Amino acid sequence: MSPLKRNEIVALDKRYLWHPYTAMDDYRRDVDPLVIQSASGSRLMDVDGRSYIDANSSWWVSTLGHNHPRIVVALEKQAQDMCHVALAGIAHEGAARLAQKMVEATPESLDYVFFSDNGSTAVEVAMKLALQYWAQNGRPERQRFVALEEAFHGETLGVTALCGVGTFSNLFKETTLESFRVKPPVEEGNLDACVAELEELFDQQADVIAALVLEPMVQGAGGMRIYPAEYLRAARELCDRHDIFLILDEVFTGYGRTGPMWAVEHTQSGKDVVQPDMLCSAKGFSGGTLPMSATLASSRIYDGFLGGRERAFYYGHSFCGNPLGCAVALETLCIFEEEKILQRAVAKIEKIARAFGRFTELPGVARTRSLGMIGALNLAGDSGYLARAGWEVYEEARKRGAYLRPMGDLVYITPALTIPDADLDELLGILEESVRAIA
Ligand SMILES: Cc1ncc(COP(=O)(O)O)c(C=O)c1O
Repeated sequence: MSPLKRNEIVALDKRYLWHPYTAMDDYRRDVDPLVIQSASGSRLMDVDGRSYIDANSSWWVSTLGHNHPRIVVALEKQAQDMCHVALAGIAHEGAARLAQKMVEATPESLDYVFFSDNGSTAVEVAMKLALQYWAQNGRPERQRFVALEEAFHGETLGVTALCGVGTFSNLFKETTLESFRVKPPVEEGNLDACVAELEELFDQQADVIAALVLEPMVQGAGGMRIYPAEYLRAARELCDRHDIFLILDEVFTGYGRTGPMWAVEHTQSGKDVVQPDMLCSAKGFSGGTLPMSATLASSRIYDGFLGGRERAFYYGHSFCGNPLGCAVALETLCIFEEEKILQRAVAKIEKIARAFGRFTELPGVARTRSLGMIGALNLAGDSGYLARAGWEVYEEARKRGAYLRPMGDLVYITPALTIPDADLDELLGILEESVRAIA
């Protein structure tokens, strides 16, 4: 097949494709999309040879940059041997070694790994494990979940029950499980009130609660809303008091996005770290290469499914434990260790913190914040996911050679942990100029 020209690709795209998170009438009428042909490191290259710094690591997946050479080699090597095999009742080296490495890389409370395909299913698995555990271990009335306002845990109808972002969940209220929702401690000085609210809810409703589900330290898709580690400690204590499971959704925050490997490590005090009952991982998990995810669970949960066929977890996706996915996920963990990715990101994290500290002064900026390799600012004026202002900054940044993906009035960067210093400087400069340009 001979390659298509830019306008031919766009014509086909607009005729046949339905894009995610996109008002298709606006898109077809007004949008001149980026047409990307290749990607390398922290850059995307379009069909006309223009290069763009990928400011959000392609939806937060390419934490090691695009096409990390070691990941490409691991993928090619695995493809020669075996691209796929069903995991039900079949063992293979990649899945076994990856499971071991994941258990070693995560908090001590986690002993077993269940693979699925994406972040949403990783959380869906955790929800089903919690429900089935209680159903067959003497507490069948425990069928409700607790989540935060503005929480985001993915797209399936199951996890939509946890979603606190109205744009994504309001229409489905009647068809999803009813969750309890509590305030996140994202406002200055509201930590105590938020802990008290959770405590009161548990005091009144613990009998029907299966689990508390949290994005540790930062609510990503809900608007890069950062909260203190104390809340996680308090949540663990309250879960212990009432024997409620704590599920941590590290789909966005894992793999160094907030600084340490897992955001829950911000709770470290001496040797103690908050220990979740389950942890969900995706996105950076497969080095930004393949749809692949993991739900880790404690021995207590795993043991609760033993004791006969009728107690087993009858759940699985065609691609769970896919050998290609396992090969790249395993290589990703090796790269984190051997290339000292977290240590090498420290100076970049400081640079992002300094820049976003300064951006508070930019015209039209309402507030800024940063945590690890996340820098975020809200523009003054219209707020919320459907606001337009962020898209004006997107257009300005695009002209200057950076790809941003704003959420309404929120403009943020989540670059690869491996972004070269020169690219990070350039990105921060482009962002500043772009914000100034729309003021
Ligand atoms: C915290 C969190 N959980 C789950 C998901 C869903 O992941 P996926 O898009 O891979 O289904 C996301 C996606 O952004 C997320 O940020």
